[in-house]
Amino acid sequence: MRLLRLSGEKACLLGKGLLMDFKIYKFDETTSTNTVLKEGKYPVGSVAVARCQSGGRGRGGRLFRSPSTGLYMSVVFGFETLADKLFMPVRAAVDVCDVLREYTECGIKWPNDIVAQGKKLCGILAEGFDDRVIIGIGINVNTTPEFFRENGLPYATSLYIQTGREQSTDKIFNELLEAMGKHRSKEEVMDSYKKRCQTLGREIRVIQGNNEYNAAAVDLTECGELVVIKDGQRVVVNSGEVSVRSCEYA
Ligand code: BTN
Repeated sequence: MRLLRLSGEKACLLGKGLLMDFKIYKFDETTSTNTVLKEGKYPVGSVAVARCQSGGRGRGGRLFRSPSTGLYMSVVFGFETLADKLFMPVRAAVDVCDVLREYTECGIKWPNDIVAQGKKLCGILAEGFDDRVIIGIGINVNTTPEFFRENGLPYATSLYIQTGREQSTDKIFNELLEAMGKHRSKEEVMDSYKKRCQTLGREIRVIQGNNEYNAAAVDLTECGELVVIKDGQRVVVNSGEVSVRSCEYA
């Protein structure tokens, strides 16, 4: 598998497992790579990547701080069934985690944060529009401890902090596209997700709007929903927020 760059704009994956032909749109600064693709109704295979974002968005309507030391990218995917659509963020978490594990020890916090030593390294925002899904990925690549300290983000980390040296955002971007363009069966993805998921087997606090409770995270459904045991009852958590008691971060 190799990644070809054509006129710096177009990249396609050649070789076994060919899946997607990506068209890349690069921005020095934009509001949010997800918003650009969504508002422009970009077709499947479009990729937006920005050096920084003025209005980076996270899950639950939160702000995602996007200084120029990070990697911010979004990819438009198509899907056939609702189950495929729901599965897309699961797949993305595994792809991103696999790439980042080449740099540092890390895992997945359900549903799709990538964490290293209990701190957030990367966030993923999946948004649907028309018949498409946008997967937005924000990675703290070369962000310094000072930035996190000055911005009140004690539970964030970066590859720079984890590895002790600066890393190339271009290299990571290419590696991510390669990973996301590969074909992997649902079973293979779910198997990897379960191995990487740090939420499973732990006592967690489930927060869904005003409803909060403690539960044990025991399994995942085939779509990636979290199965918890609450007061002896099996509950499937498919929306809202889960925070792990021992490591809560914004
Ligand atoms: C989260 O952790 O809540 C999800 C964060 C997702 C951030 C990425 S950065 C690229 C893309 N553009 C956005 O505005 N958000 C996603």
